[in-house]
Amino acid sequence: MNGENRQYPLFCSRCFKLGQVYLLGHPILPPFPGLLSISDDEFKHFQQLIYKASGIHLPATKKMLVVSRLSKRVRHHGLDSLQHYYQFITHAHHADEFQIMVDLLTTNETYFFREPEHFSQLKQLLPDYPREHPFQAWSAACSSGEEGYSMAMTLMELFGTGRAWSVLGTDISARMLHIARNAVYPINATEHIPKNYLSQYCLKGVRSQAGTFRIEKKLRDRVKFQQLNLNAPHIPHLPHFDLILLRNVLIYFDIPTKRQLIHKMIDQLRPGGYLLIGHAENLSSLSTPEIHAQLSSVAPTVYRKKLSTSGG
Ligand SMILES: C[S@@+](CC[C@H](N)C(=O)[O-])C[C@H]1O[C@@H](n2cnc3c(N)ncnc32)[C@H](O)[C@@H]1O
Repeated sequence: MNGENRQYPLFCSRCFKLGQVYLLGHPILPPFPGLLSISDDEFKHFQQLIYKASGIHLPATKKMLVVSRLSKRVRHHGLDSLQHYYQFITHAHHADEFQIMVDLLTTNETYFFREPEHFSQLKQLLPDYPREHPFQAWSAACSSGEEGYSMAMTLMELFGTGRAWSVLGTDISARMLHIARNAVYPINATEHIPKNYLSQYCLKGVRSQAGTFRIEKKLRDRVKFQQLNLNAPHIPHLPHFDLILLRNVLIYFDIPTKRQLIHKMIDQLRPGGYLLIGHAENLSSLSTPEIHAQLSSVAPTVYRKKLSTSGG
């Protein structure tokens, strides 16, 4: 038994019949003493800044969210207003604080096997997928990693270790990627993980790690994480993917940004590869003749890059 297993013995299926209740949840911001105010113009400055940095469109209804999430940072730096905080983060020397602001203003909600139909659909679709090259999946807005590890559990079941496959998770949020790489989650996050996967790929924390579980090393080794802004003018060099999960992120972008992003995703897909978007999202409002010519719809929110298109 290695050191990791001593700390995280494997889950046994019996533990999960008990339906235990845990108080731990996803990281939340601690409460802070008082809120600052923000004028419409100041809000617009933050709106433009986050749009330029990430493509995220913050509607006016998110004004209080900006105030509540950033007030603590204003105080942390001994500043007295959001206007001064804006000047602070836009100064070239404060790139670290700029990243913290981006982290605070993104919405990172996620959980294991979110929208489970996608994983069932992939189990139907992927056994027929060409096997002559390593299978590469991309969780393109992976948040804290649950989506990438859910995909990895599914691929391990489908392909095992006999076939080369890997998952790349990327996100704009450095804070979320840190959680993803650690692969330690509160125990209540096991709620949606199928029991057979729990016993195979999850290690229950004991002693100082009680109340948590960790994704097992054989799965962690298949999943890599990298910081990436999907709306940066140029996506850094990435391989072509057989499967891209672009789920629950389009919703934060305006139509031109969504359209550009779908074009980028098509470029990153191998011909015959699959693109999945969130169930609350759709491509119909975006459909340009190019998108239509290159993607076919397999099921609602599941698309496939046509084999006859170039690139890949
Ligand atoms: C709501 S979460 C979705 C997570 C996961 N895909 C899911 O469906 O559960 C949206 C994620 O998109 C990320 N995000 C937002 N804008 C981004 C951008 N421009 N580039 C990369 N990631 C971005 C956020 O940091 C956040 O983690």
